[in-house]
Amino acid sequence: MRPKFVAGNWKMYTSAGTAKALATTVAMSMKGDKRVMVAVCPPFPWLGVVASALDGMSVMLGAQNCHFEKEGAYTGEVSPAMLRDVGCQYVIIGHSERRHGFGETDDLLNKKAKAALAAGLKVIFCVGELLAEREANQTEQVLDTQLTNGLAGLTSAQMHSVVLAYEPVWAIGTGKVATPEQAQAAHAFIRGKLAGLYDAGTAAHVQIQYGGSVKADNAAGLMSLPDVDGALVGGASLKADQFLAIVNAAIG
Ligand code: 13P
Repeated sequence: MRPKFVAGNWKMYTSAGTAKALATTVAMSMKGDKRVMVAVCPPFPWLGVVASALDGMSVMLGAQNCHFEKEGAYTGEVSPAMLRDVGCQYVIIGHSERRHGFGETDDLLNKKAKAALAAGLKVIFCVGELLAEREANQTEQVLDTQLTNGLAGLTSAQMHSVVLAYEPVWAIGTGKVATPEQAQAAHAFIRGKLAGLYDAGTAAHVQIQYGGSVKADNAAGLMSLPDVDGALVGGASLKADQFLAIVNAAIG
């Protein structure tokens, strides 16, 4: 049985003060609750502040991006080792805002995933189709390519440190959530693809989060689907009460 995993992607929102307050409220409300995995992914500058707020708590810390090199003359970039050092357990790789807003390719994302895993981070690897791709019935083809190329060279042992997030781009920040049928079909396709790339055991083990306009009122329906193992939450993760309602929906 895969545990549910709800992660908040704060994107480029919050201040040092609001980040600390939000993390503290979430962590205090969760206490040591082990029924669901919870992580928050603040902007880089607040990772240290939030790491302190989460110290000794069950809520985990993630970053939203990383470079693939250990160190070097890469102005403005942050390495996986630095993320580990500041207390991150997870890093989001391949978010659609990186793919489509910053031109990150499958090959680049593959390098990032490998580097993050080598540094001891766990990876939340995002995949998902554009609206035009869905309308052209290319969803499975897009997911297939993103998974084949993005996960290339990762071993089944490494896949134990990878969480996938299915985030249909047309559902992100739009309020247009995927229907349960659309979400379940995409998640089942992704799990089937993992079985092909690896084996049935790996496919059964990997958590697949859904992301895209997850709110308190649709979270329970999505997370009760057989292949939906949690949520990657954007907007609703910025308000403690909304995020905690989604976490509670994951507990069921
Ligand atoms: P929203 O929940 O704001 O649609 O964002 C989803 C997302 O991109 C999470 O990574």
